[in-house]
Amino acid sequence: MAYEFILVETRGPVGLITLNRPKALNALCAGLIADLGKALDDMEADDNIGAIVLTGSEKAFAAGADIKEMSGKSYMDVYLQDFITKGWERVTTCRKPVIAAVSGYALGGGCEMAMMCDFILAAETAKFGQPEITIGTIPGAGGTQRLTRFVGKSKAMEMNLTGRIMDAEEAERAGLVSRIIPATELISEAVATAEKIAGLSRPVVMMAKECVNKAYETTLSEGVKFERRVFHSTFATEDQKEGMAAFVEKRTPNFKNR
Ligand code: HXC
Repeated sequence: MAYEFILVETRGPVGLITLNRPKALNALCAGLIADLGKALDDMEADDNIGAIVLTGSEKAFAAGADIKEMSGKSYMDVYLQDFITKGWERVTTCRKPVIAAVSGYALGGGCEMAMMCDFILAAETAKFGQPEITIGTIPGAGGTQRLTRFVGKSKAMEMNLTGRIMDAEEAERAGLVSRIIPATELISEAVATAEKIAGLSRPVVMMAKECVNKAYETTLSEGVKFERRVFHSTFATEDQKEGMAAFVEKRTPNFKNR
């Protein structure tokens, strides 16, 4: 499948999607979002792929939604098109794990896109921010909501009200990114991490992902109950039998994704 705005490759069991609009610092235009949605559909359908890495260039993961494409839209345009929900949330409905590997700018919609992934690995050059306020608007794909859940009210409020950009160290301290990686090793480390996940039991990985996501959608007691039910259900898989038997027999498990 040929794409205009992204590059797609597979590395073993890992699907690697690279946002590729270098002249616009990977600004997220409608065509790019459509390409991304198609690539994710294909990777979800491909049994050989167990996890996905989403990345950009060295200079920019993505510098936001495409301001030039957006600037002339009227209220009726954005309301009737449900701009910008359509397509963007495809990342959040992906059942396979998606890791964001962020180098350079992840601003506005770029930061929101990274936050829609399951976790963020950042190069030391990564810069995160919600600068929408400086161009007379606010985030429209979760920047006021997800960022607040990641870093707490004070930092999220400051970033949303001033547009201040956070560097990788601050982002790691605040819990926005899981790890900082030297820029030259970002892709290889993200792919290695995805490969490790892809080598585990696929259904159990999906269950774990569902449970962590549940923490954002419900109360603690309901979430713990949900987790317990799912934990119990792992005992219905062949992979739980294999994983525990392998531990007892001091060997590497051979998961069958069943
Ligand atoms: C369209 C963009 C863009 C964007 C950069 N470009 N960001 N085009 N939309 N979001 C284009 C520039 O116009 C320029 O094109 C080229 O990319 C290089 O950018 P420069 O500004 O020349 O680069 P630099 O001086 O290095 O500055 C980098 C930057 C700056 C700090 C990241 O580009 C910037 O501030 N960008 C906008 C960031 C932003 O406000 N993002 C939020 C967007 S609103 P030309 O043709 O001039 O060479 C948003 C809303 C989301 O995301 C709502 C819901 C999803």
